[in-house]
Amino acid sequence: MASKPLNVGIVGYGFMGRTHANGFRKVSNFFDLEYRPVLRAACGRDEAKLKAYAEKWGWETTETDWRALVKRKDIDVVDICTPNDSHAEIAIAAAREGKMVLCEKPLSMDGAEGEKMVAEIEKAGVANMVWYNYRRAPAVTLAKQIIDSGKLGKIFHYRAKFLQDWTISADLPQGGAGLWRLDAKAAGSGVTGDLLAHCIDTALWLNGSISTVTAMTETFVKQRTHTATGKVEEVGIDDACAFLARFSNGSLATFESTRYARGHKALYTFEINGENASIFWDLHDLHRLQFFDYADESRTRGWKSIHVTDGDHPYMGNWWVPGLQIGYEHTFVHQVADFLKGLETKTPAGPTFRDALETQYVCDAVLSSASTGSWTKVKQLA
Ligand SMILES: NC(=O)c1ccc[n+]([C@@H]2O[C@H](COP(=O)([O-])OP(=O)(O)OC[C@H]3O[C@@H](n4cnc5c(N)ncnc54)[C@H](O)[C@@H]3O)[C@@H](O)[C@H]2O)c1
Repeated sequence: MASKPLNVGIVGYGFMGRTHANGFRKVSNFFDLEYRPVLRAACGRDEAKLKAYAEKWGWETTETDWRALVKRKDIDVVDICTPNDSHAEIAIAAAREGKMVLCEKPLSMDGAEGEKMVAEIEKAGVANMVWYNYRRAPAVTLAKQIIDSGKLGKIFHYRAKFLQDWTISADLPQGGAGLWRLDAKAAGSGVTGDLLAHCIDTALWLNGSISTVTAMTETFVKQRTHTATGKVEEVGIDDACAFLARFSNGSLATFESTRYARGHKALYTFEINGENASIFWDLHDLHRLQFFDYADESRTRGWKSIHVTDGDHPYMGNWWVPGLQIGYEHTFVHQVADFLKGLETKTPAGPTFRDALETQYVCDAVLSSASTGSWTKVKQLA
């Protein structure tokens, strides 16, 4: 029975503001945990929109300045759901106030900023986590369990892509709600920090560290009107990025992401080929894991599609009955559950800020390689 209230203050009421609120609201209904999130305060700059969000999702109070929110004595956890350029400032201020900090991905604008965040959060000694939620799709967690059991044997290949098509129109402005992703000053980078960061986090988790990369990027639409100034300005983000990588375990990888793959909305897939078995996962079919096992009897050997909905599959015993699938929003419920369990067991749930810094290092190396045109070493965690 969840007895200990944990007061949450959220900053940002957009896309992630909704997925996180849903996670905090649902978790105690489905998971038996010591801590119970209380939706104590929501923060945003537009008071009318903020009030509407708070009312809809059940936040008890509101603040229009995050500086006031992080100082509040009745807040235990600050949850950052704002564009990337504000993560560091809010996270560091919250940590200095002794708050636990949950931060949306990517952790930071780049590795150097990420290092400052890790130093501050570790100095404050507060619980922390970054929302790389795809780790918590039950089929992805199952992939991790299968790999860790050694079933794949030596891993040869890792292949990931994240394809979208929503920025093809040159009429789309840069800046503002959602569209801050097209503004390098707010986003840091384009698809590399936004989409490939997810692929990289999953890859590091499943297959270990990446040692070197070589990358190419392209900005297909080079100028767009900026929402803030009304002027046509240079576009500083990468619209598409493809890179080759070598993992420290000797496996080779390809990663690709674009917002110009006409027909694809959020096609995140990864495939891993080992000497004994292979795994494939597709976000569009997120409750399934494709698995090929060479140890199977030869005449019936083939790719099988595991419907990851049974009671002994990761997280699934907490949901309905075997055979009934869950979806995207549940990855966030699982992430809240794991964070709370980490507080209970004093074993922090990953990725922590430090774990997420490793993804920043890979993104930095990818962007640097794209500009120099050469193989680039990835900085490793200290
Ligand atoms: N984990 C995931 O799968 C995932 C998916 C989408 C976005 N994200 C990340 O979540 C973050 C937010 O993205 P989003 O899609 O929710 O964006 P969004 O544009 O939908 O929402 C951003 C929110 O931040 C608010 N905001 C901006 N600056 C602020 C400030 N200074 N003070 C208070 N509020 C401020 C905006 O008003 C808005 O409510 C980004 O870092 C993004 O990379 C992660």
